[in-house]
Amino acid sequence: MNTAIIVAAGSGERFGSEIPKQFIEINGKPVIVHTIERFQDAPSIDSIVLVVAENYIPQCEAVVAVYPKLAKIVAGGRTRAESVRNGLRAVDPECDLVAVHDGARPFVTIDEIERTVGKAKETGAACLVAAVTDTIKSVRGGEIADTLDRDKLRRALTPQVFRKDVLTRAFENADLTGTVTDECYLVEKLRYSISFVEGSSRNIKITHPDDLTFAEALLSNEDWLIANS
Ligand code: CTP
Ligand code: MG
Repeated sequence: MNTAIIVAAGSGERFGSEIPKQFIEINGKPVIVHTIERFQDAPSIDSIVLVVAENYIPQCEAVVAVYPKLAKIVAGGRTRAESVRNGLRAVDPECDLVAVHDGARPFVTIDEIERTVGKAKETGAACLVAAVTDTIKSVRGGEIADTLDRDKLRRALTPQVFRKDVLTRAFENADLTGTVTDECYLVEKLRYSISFVEGSSRNIKITHPDDLTFAEALLSNEDWLIANS
């Protein structure tokens, strides 16, 4: 049995809207609903744990009946990592794999979910990634210091999928207050080997208001919708 933890308890400071970005509607549905639908439709996922801010729990409970895989809704923490930990505590002990996904990434495809879960089933840990297309520089003291080899770089997307015992061990005694921005970081510290799966640059995390323009364009693209329904 495999569970997805969808974290959607952030306040969206960079986005800067009155309601958190994951509750803004695109194409008639809140961003978080688009995200839930991807996991509802992914054959490898058996249940979903949704993590939202405490005051959003009642309105999310209202959609539980629509999404049969939506098993639990729990309150988030002060950081993303704390929210994932809260979700992990609510995962069924019998669960094999846990897929952690950002609620603000509604454009993940079912194919990306299936390939990442499939890889984690083989290896115990898999991260969806995207290629780096810009030339990346390191900087020091106000100057360009070095050029990194972009063929050796990937952007970490979500889902990131792990055997439940591996992820649980990674969160044990971890400091979740600081700059932990993904699960791989914690699993890397265990020195557990993590496979990667190539994903699409369309799987963006809605972060700034400009991202909504892209989101609306993609959701009005019929080819994309048909390919992902
Ligand atoms: N998240 C969460 N709990 C937090 C912080 C973030 O569940 N305490 C979730 C967000 O809701 C989002 C995902 O983690 O779906 C990725 O985080 P990010 O894009 O950084 O969202 P925010 O933290 O809400 O945005 P910002 O950093 O701009 O405030
Ligand atoms: Mg954040």
